Amino acid sequence: MRTRTLRAAAAAALFTTLLAGCGQEARGGSRYQSDKGKGGTIGLAMPTKASERWIADGENMAEQFRKAGYQTDLQYGDDKVENQIAQIENMITKGRRLLVVAAIDGSALTDVLRRAHDAGIPVISYDRLIMGTEHVDYYASFDNERVGELQARYIVDKLRLGAPARTGGKPYDIELFAGSPDDNNTRYFWNGAMKVLQPYLASGQLVVRSGQTRMNQATTLRWDGGTAQRRMDDLISKNYGAESVDAVLSPYDGMSIGIISALRSAGYGTPGQPLPVVTGQDAELASVKSIMRGEQTQTVFKDTRKLAARAVAMGDAVLDGRKPEVNNVKDYDNGKKTVPAYLLDPVSIDRTNTQLLVREGYFTADQLS
Ligand code: GAL
Repeated sequence: MRTRTLRAAAAAALFTTLLAGCGQEARGGSRYQSDKGKGGTIGLAMPTKASERWIADGENMAEQFRKAGYQTDLQYGDDKVENQIAQIENMITKGRRLLVVAAIDGSALTDVLRRAHDAGIPVISYDRLIMGTEHVDYYASFDNERVGELQARYIVDKLRLGAPARTGGKPYDIELFAGSPDDNNTRYFWNGAMKVLQPYLASGQLVVRSGQTRMNQATTLRWDGGTAQRRMDDLISKNYGAESVDAVLSPYDGMSIGIISALRSAGYGTPGQPLPVVTGQDAELASVKSIMRGEQTQTVFKDTRKLAARAVAMGDAVLDGRKPEVNNVKDYDNGKKTVPAYLLDPVSIDRTNTQLLVREGYFTADQLS
């Protein structure tokens, strides 16, 4: 009896040692090579279906991963952090080979990604950087700071502000909006825009009548259009009586639509009181149509097909034991590591170049008619 127990204990110890050995190897240089090659299922964790861009991102990646020889498990978190964590946990349990994650809250995934790491599953951070964890391998996005620069530069040019240091002349009134405080992109968009606007605010050519010039006064939880609309209502009623606001920095189309609704209810968009310059991002269909109608003024086009292709190429390379191509290894520090990134170029769109979206095949001519 005793011998049998000892033998069982020795076997268990041997098994544990073998397992530990595998674990060590899994954490070493050849971490993802044990199941090298094509096949298997990729987990795609997207934030929400409330915005058409994320629907397109998910579908584009699913299609392109399938073409590259993988299956996909595409999940949307409905903008609820706990949903996204549960979905990623489920992907780990189901043995997905790779995770591509567009985080709802960039700082909330530390624990679940540790589990992904322990299971030997590589992680690509998609569009939004995942913060506070070393368990993120690559980042695919657009040049986020450039997005903010394009929005602010558009305002400066449209208002013909001239040299930043010029004083005198009629000052223009501007209000500032920022994205969701838990999305790491928000501060890149804001910093990019403020780098351009700051000299004009300093010289008095631009004035923020509300005085809300800090990012944390301007953020909009979950990029919600209704929240932006309510804040714009409030800014107008408290700060603009006889005066009109001349420009609104909006970082995202869904918010721009809400901001324009608030402006219209306050009487803007009539011959005596034109709408201000309103920026945006994502070239969503509703906003492109609004631009063509002369309501929203500008948006920033980020071709989600190209971003999807980039993430798929990265994922395929990682699973194949190759090094993915990156073009930025210094700017995206998530607090635990600088994540190697590939950044694509965003493009500014206004009334004069909406047809570019048709030429690029992003929309059909019918959609924009
Ligand atoms: C950001 C993204 C933007 C916009 C926004 C709201 O993270 O970079 O393009 O989509 O979320 O969804």
